[in-house]
Amino acid sequence: MTNALLIESIGELTTNDEANGGRLRDAAVVVEDDRIAWVGATDRAPAADERLDAGGRAVLPGWVDSHTHMIFAGDRTAEFEARMSGETYAAGGINVTVEATRAASDAELETNLKRLVAEANRGGTTTLETKTGYGLTVADEVRAAEIAGRHVDAVTFLGAHVIPSGKDPTEYLDLVTGPMLDAVAPHVSAVDVFCESGAFDEEASRRVLASARAAGLSRRVHGNQLGHGPGALLAVEYGARSVDHLGFLDDADVAAIADSWSSWDGGSGHPGTVATVLPACDLSTRMPLAPARRLRDAGAVLAIASNCNPGTSYTSSMGFCVATAVLQMGLTIQDAVRAATMGGAIALGMYEDGWCDPRGIAQPAVGAIRPGARADLQLLDAPSVTHLAYRPGMPLTVATWRAGEYVVS
Ligand code: NIG
Repeated sequence: MTNALLIESIGELTTNDEANGGRLRDAAVVVEDDRIAWVGATDRAPAADERLDAGGRAVLPGWVDSHTHMIFAGDRTAEFEARMSGETYAAGGINVTVEATRAASDAELETNLKRLVAEANRGGTTTLETKTGYGLTVADEVRAAEIAGRHVDAVTFLGAHVIPSGKDPTEYLDLVTGPMLDAVAPHVSAVDVFCESGAFDEEASRRVLASARAAGLSRRVHGNQLGHGPGALLAVEYGARSVDHLGFLDDADVAAIADSWSSWDGGSGHPGTVATVLPACDLSTRMPLAPARRLRDAGAVLAIASNCNPGTSYTSSMGFCVATAVLQMGLTIQDAVRAATMGGAIALGMYEDGWCDPRGIAQPAVGAIRPGARADLQLLDAPSVTHLAYRPGMPLTVATWRAGEYVVS
């Protein structure tokens, strides 16, 4: 092999590959250019130009953070302090960030985004989605999508975040499902709607989801965050890739999300609706934790994401989210790691080789360590992924590779 890096003596390798049961001991990986070329036992590894001895430590896929809002300006520390003093989160602060974002220059927005992406990379994140949603005019949403597209793997249009201050709701809905969608569509791969009282009700959410489908874009839903509502069922009805938040679910919601996977064969083709839980957001808003274990036991496919944003979850630490999902939401460590890697990749439509980027170019899979997948890996200074929850808060990721390139930590 040429231009190959062999990482050997891996104590525990999380592959997310059914072919080897998802996990190997005493393993090795060969990275060739931007792809995984070989996976197997260290004592069977082929020769390579470069070798790295993992010294019995754990290697796993880079985190796939499938839900963030990283393109913004401004600060909401005061709102956070008020919340910690007992105020309830009610989404009103979104318009504060909208004002700051509109007032920021392109350079300011880009610098802030680059800082957040670098932080995420240092924590082991190798695939990032981010949403628009703090511009809420045609020009500001297009600007956010364009800037984000230069720095993250997937951009989602969230014009349907809130009704901007001073706007008539009916006129804004016409805009967001019409001219704004048309202008942003070339820059995004999905459309999201905040389906919640105080944001977009069922009827309005239906219009947003139908317009996304008509435009040939994937659908996603912010649902059941602040109270019980129609978000989860709508997401399933409209074939959304994911429904995210999920703090308030009844039995029918859980069954519908789980049933959306009943005919999935684990391969490509249209998957069901991923249940994305956002543990850091639930903590920061002091809202009920999403019932991740219940969803998982019912048969749902889970993703864990950071929801990095200035209002409800100002962290990109997927390690923290995984630890919280294990310690507080009842997931096993293996389930949580799978949700924060493979689950995010499924939610983004990037889990199978050959998914198409916005330019229509076929790309290698992310979220798994298997031959042909993008070489996105992280090395932990620990013998197993269990330490992510056993030693919460510790910066265990000591090296990250994205598309075969070492990301300096
Ligand atoms: O996912 N729920 C809506 N959107 C964000 C919050 C954004 C904000 O408060 O600025 C979320 O939590």
